[in-house]
Amino acid sequence: MRLWALSDLHVAYPINREAIAQLPAHPQDWLILGGDLGETPDHVRWILDVLGGRYQRLLWVPGNHELYTTNKDPVRLNGVARYEHLVGLCRRAGVLTPEDPWPLWPGDGPPTMIAPLFVPYDYSFGPPGLSREQVKAWAADEHIVSTDELLIKPEPYAHIGEWCAARVKLTEARLQDVPPGVRLVLINHWPLRQDLVRLYRIPRFAPWCGTTATEPWLRRFPVDVVVYGHLHMRSTDWREGVRHEEVSLGYPRHWRQEAGVSHYLRQILPGPPAPPSGESGPEWRR
Ligand SMILES: [Fe+2]
Ligand SMILES: [Fe+2]
Repeated sequence: MRLWALSDLHVAYPINREAIAQLPAHPQDWLILGGDLGETPDHVRWILDVLGGRYQRLLWVPGNHELYTTNKDPVRLNGVARYEHLVGLCRRAGVLTPEDPWPLWPGDGPPTMIAPLFVPYDYSFGPPGLSREQVKAWAADEHIVSTDELLIKPEPYAHIGEWCAARVKLTEARLQDVPPGVRLVLINHWPLRQDLVRLYRIPRFAPWCGTTATEPWLRRFPVDVVVYGHLHMRSTDWREGVRHEEVSLGYPRHWRQEAGVSHYLRQILPGPPAPPSGESGPEWRR
């Protein structure tokens, strides 16, 4: 029995959609869907319909794209209401979400909880000491303006940083309740450490990639693995004994169609042993 992961399926692209439809069945296994499945609830529903019968269990976390409210989408829900609509859609399909109890991994290995999270970003990956507006101006100086600013309407919060703070608080409370002796696999669309955001071509996109509030969790709680996406730069890194797996597929230009989507499924559990120093990487995944 294995735990697999894939994020950033972006099925609005017919190339991605057709390739995902070809994925073989793994009826004994679980599959993590790490966010950015698409921009509409129909995109999410399509993936759950196609893959639901091929895996024993699916787990979903939202990405920024699922939170977009666009003119083309008949579901005109914003912010929290939109997220809750997607959670309901997943639950009706039997898919685990960040709002559900974290299941214990039934496969081999030490007792391990699989924890889908929804902790977005708060601009703290920008230069220290700047306000949110100053961070956005700093990015705009190099012509970086995230589409999120136009399409995410984070109601009832004034901005996504406030929504993020609320998510940090409730997630931390759940982490404190993990029983002693249980290990953790954390799943979040955005990375949980700032030093994993290696945007060589667009470094000023970093403010839309996470929050510095999550990094202390990796020392404070018994985390073995973090599964994330969003960067569209697949990698494996070991940091302080924790394995960080960026598992995105991405837009058609980000993956080799001749390899097929199966090539991009990342095995999370069982996992490899930690390197002796607890540090290695990045191992880029082509
Ligand atoms: Fe993405
Ligand atoms: Fe994303």
